[in-house]
Amino acid sequence: MSDSLIHSSINAGVLTLTITRPEALNALNAAVISELAEAIENAQTQPDIQVIILTGSGEKAFVAGADIKEFANFNAKQGKQLAQHGQDHLFNRIERSTKPVIAAINGFALGGGLELALACHVRIASENARMGLPEVSLGAIPGYGGTQRLPQVVGKGKAFEIILTAGMVNAADGLACGLVNQVVPLESLAEAADNMARKMMKNSPRALQTAIQAVLAGYEEGINGFEAEISCFGASFETEDFKEGTRAFIEKRKPQFPGK
Ligand code: CAA
Repeated sequence: MSDSLIHSSINAGVLTLTITRPEALNALNAAVISELAEAIENAQTQPDIQVIILTGSGEKAFVAGADIKEFANFNAKQGKQLAQHGQDHLFNRIERSTKPVIAAINGFALGGGLELALACHVRIASENARMGLPEVSLGAIPGYGGTQRLPQVVGKGKAFEIILTAGMVNAADGLACGLVNQVVPLESLAEAADNMARKMMKNSPRALQTAIQAVLAGYEEGINGFEAEISCFGASFETEDFKEGTRAFIEKRKPQFPGK
């Protein structure tokens, strides 16, 4: 049996990556970060993968955070390296994935766990999900992008509330504030994520990639998002997907996108 911490399965174009460390509620230690980063990176070049779903093993936790036991004795330099390495190698790579990434939040998503979900493009939560950034209760602050991505998703005021109270947001409240896109019963979570993936897969893979790039451009220092959109829009006219998409519309048929 493999002792991999990331269980991976592909079903008709959808790659599901399951963080499998149930004894620690799927907490992100160095090995999980490294294996997950590798799996995301490999998926970028695999033509049989169009959408990625991230989830956690078991029925209790998506990811309960960075591994507290691993970093409890770190000094300032090591703490900075932990955050830098995690952001560079995993969280930013997920956000910049050329293929959409959906978080299927199956329970606790705390600290680095919620930050992982926030790095994904879309979040679907099960009804038992409990989400929060409890780092200040440990004497630290979020280090995997939470102080930046949470305000982008829920707005500054709600983000301050979540970060400064270190409290947990339930699935219904998460839906109300836009933290998650959809809430479903736990037993329907995998199906809901798959349905969302298949809706995305009906569209041009090249356009999905470019749309992600254009949305993210608006959050980048020194980049004018509107200008980036104009360039990306123009570039899409040169793709085979665009030619096929427009031709299929005119011929009143479903497009067969080559993904080029
Ligand atoms: N790191 C390491 N181990 C963890 C963990 C974490 N983040 N979360 C849970 N575990 C471990 C527990 O230590 C426990 O292990 P043992 O059985 O060996 O003691 C096991 O998982 C089960 O957890 P609990 O017994 O605590 O389960 P519970 O149902 O009583 O509580 C919980 C569940 C509320 C999620 C609780 O485990 C908890 O509060 N976890 C920590 C949440 C947290 O603070 N996350 C933020 C981490 S810091 C961070 O993420 C920094 C960053 O941004 C980079």
